[in-house]
Amino acid sequence: LSTIRCAVTETSVYSKESTETVDLDWDNLGFGLVPTDYMYKMKCTQNGIFTEGELLRYGPIELSPSSGVLNYGQGLFEGLKAYRKEDGSILLFRPEENALRMRKGAERMCMPAPSVEKFVDAVKLTVLANKRWVPPTGKGSLYIRPLLIGSGAVLGLSPAPEYTFLIFVSPVGNYFKEGLAPVNLLVENEFHRAAPGGTGGVKTIGNYASVLKAQKKAKENGFSDVLYLDSTHKKYLEEVSSCNIFVVKNKVISTPEVKGTILPGITRKSIIDVALGQGYQVEERAVSVDEVLDADEVFCTGTAVVVTPVGSITFLGRRVEYGNKGVGAVSQELYSELTRLQMGLLEDKMGWTMKL
Ligand code: COI
Repeated sequence: LSTIRCAVTETSVYSKESTETVDLDWDNLGFGLVPTDYMYKMKCTQNGIFTEGELLRYGPIELSPSSGVLNYGQGLFEGLKAYRKEDGSILLFRPEENALRMRKGAERMCMPAPSVEKFVDAVKLTVLANKRWVPPTGKGSLYIRPLLIGSGAVLGLSPAPEYTFLIFVSPVGNYFKEGLAPVNLLVENEFHRAAPGGTGGVKTIGNYASVLKAQKKAKENGFSDVLYLDSTHKKYLEEVSSCNIFVVKNKVISTPEVKGTILPGITRKSIIDVALGQGYQVEERAVSVDEVLDADEVFCTGTAVVVTPVGSITFLGRRVEYGNKGVGAVSQELYSELTRLQMGLLEDKMGWTMKL
């Protein structure tokens, strides 16, 4: 294995200046899994210390049927992206933020987590090992999926005695089938994504399985996804199944505050800073469903969705459409600022990108 690690590092150094990529249909990447060459794996037992990680050929992993993750959902995931610059080098976007979020989530889920340094090193190593899968500039990105799972065997409900940290990657294009076109959201009126005191604010795997039913129904009825309301008042916006939400009215940008029931998105946080830098007023507060129906523009943010404009929102049978077919000027401006920064086309004054 150390041979693999070594060989991969050398190949990466060798091909540092090259723009060589695999032969894929780069113009038609969606958000489906494209298996790549290597994955990263590292284990940790009860002592909380992770072993030296290793790169392995991408493929199935062995897991006990009684593992904590399979039986009780003790698992977290992360999502971040690598972009190829025109000179062939690769940029990661704020990987330390993902490491920190995983550490916070791990604390909530009673799991040990890798240090920020170990996490970032592992991400770098995995991306370099799969360098040829990073799409050419402007054609998409390499989506990086770190996972932390309770891999040790349990029967009674308790934290697992062993944990596995994994990273796999996949080249991706646009998340929604609409591509960059605005999405149509349905405000969910029956189910809720999270409750106060629950785990809505961490990236635990169960938060995602539980939204599938409402999402499936919405898709069957022609919507792109579901927008959740808070479970206490059934009135305030929370988030979409896979992303955060922003509302623009009279050039003021508002987004639900982070208070334990919504995911503290890294793109959310970045967009707030980008918008402030562009001179916008940004408010993090309770945003009611009535406000979203009266907004000038609405957009979603997330690693996978980047900045996706919302074309319409439907609530209790009432459909509201947003101007310019949903691609508002503010969403457009913020999308462009953020993506140019991520792709290295704009000077990174924030220090958010990490060059490999
Ligand atoms: C991401 O945006 O990275 C996410 O984790 C959302 C996921 C459902 C694709």
